[in-house]
Amino acid sequence: MLKDYPILESLLSSGFAGDRDAFRASLELMGKRAEELGDSQVATLLDKVAKTAERGWVEDRTDAADKKAAFGRTLGSIDDIPPGIMMLKTNVTMNEVILPANVKLVISEFLEEQQYNEKYIDAGLEPRNKAMLIGPPGNGKTESAKAIANFMNVPLYYVRYDELVSKQPGETQKRLNRVFNFAKTHRSMLFFDEIDAIGKDRSDEGQTGEMKAVVSTLLVQLEDVPPHVLVLGATNHPEMIDKAMWRRFHIRVNLPNPTIDEFVKYLAMKFGTFKLEPKIDLRILSYQLEAENFAETSVFVDDCVRTWIRHDKTITIEEAIKRAVVTWPKNRVKIAK
Ligand SMILES: Nc1ncnc2c1ncn2[C@@H]1O[C@H](COP(=O)(O)OP(=O)(O)OP(=O)(O)O)[C@@H](O)[C@H]1O
Ligand SMILES: [Mg+2]
Repeated sequence: MLKDYPILESLLSSGFAGDRDAFRASLELMGKRAEELGDSQVATLLDKVAKTAERGWVEDRTDAADKKAAFGRTLGSIDDIPPGIMMLKTNVTMNEVILPANVKLVISEFLEEQQYNEKYIDAGLEPRNKAMLIGPPGNGKTESAKAIANFMNVPLYYVRYDELVSKQPGETQKRLNRVFNFAKTHRSMLFFDEIDAIGKDRSDEGQTGEMKAVVSTLLVQLEDVPPHVLVLGATNHPEMIDKAMWRRFHIRVNLPNPTIDEFVKYLAMKFGTFKLEPKIDLRILSYQLEAENFAETSVFVDDCVRTWIRHDKTITIEEAIKRAVVTWPKNRVKIAK
């Protein structure tokens, strides 16, 4: 019977390809062939394999269907939100966050998988759901997380370490588990901003046994979290984070300090939010500010508009900008690196 190579080949290739109908047909053919040859033992065995495989397939299908259905589940009641997280309302759009082209691409691919999760699940893949945003302060880590939640139209659960971390032994782990279990009940996003606060390297001497146990729980939960729950982490201290954490996140993106071109784009956009389009060279202004990040630039634009309003708009916005530039070194709050 082993000489029936075409049947054998079709059986193996359909099995590996996960082609259920072709696999079943090949098994049947083989069973028939075994009966023709009077090998009832092989025929019985093939029949048994066919039935078991069928059961396996049915389970797999249900699993895929379950996964897809989970993407459709929404929050039951706000009252169910456990301690340790708060729901953040956000209307930041992806267009309002200025990101380097490579970062934008990585994030848009990540979001594409979430949006069109069905086709990935059907292909036997899990849509990626965990992303870590890394970089110096004030360049849009928190802002990006908000924009992502808004874009995906999912509730954004901001993890509050002050509420999550307890002095009582084992309590923090319990709360962390509760937070994950709650998030899993529907399509949602868990955001661990400043994740170094809870995910510190376990080999760090300053880490207490209790906090090491919390890191372990976090690692287990991150491993286990289903694809319909987005998990975002953000940090400006990547060197402090537990080494095992990195592998848990599907994508890790760096948000560096902006380039001059990005500052120019940001200034135009930020003035635009006040319906202003100053007739000045924004490139020169960008150089004058010597800002390190978008957050500082944001404060400057607010300064300009404040100056303008203080004068009840009797001066032009260009004049207000000129005055704000003069006082900028004094007003500027430099964000420490
Ligand atoms: N990439 C960006 N595009 C547009 N606006 C930005 C960007 N980065 C920062 N901003 C502005 O600066 C403010 C602070 O940014 P954000 O809170 O996202 O920084 P962060 O990277 O999370 O910093 P930190 O590490 O200090 O938490 C935002 O509210 C926004 O106004
Ligand atoms: Mg932040």
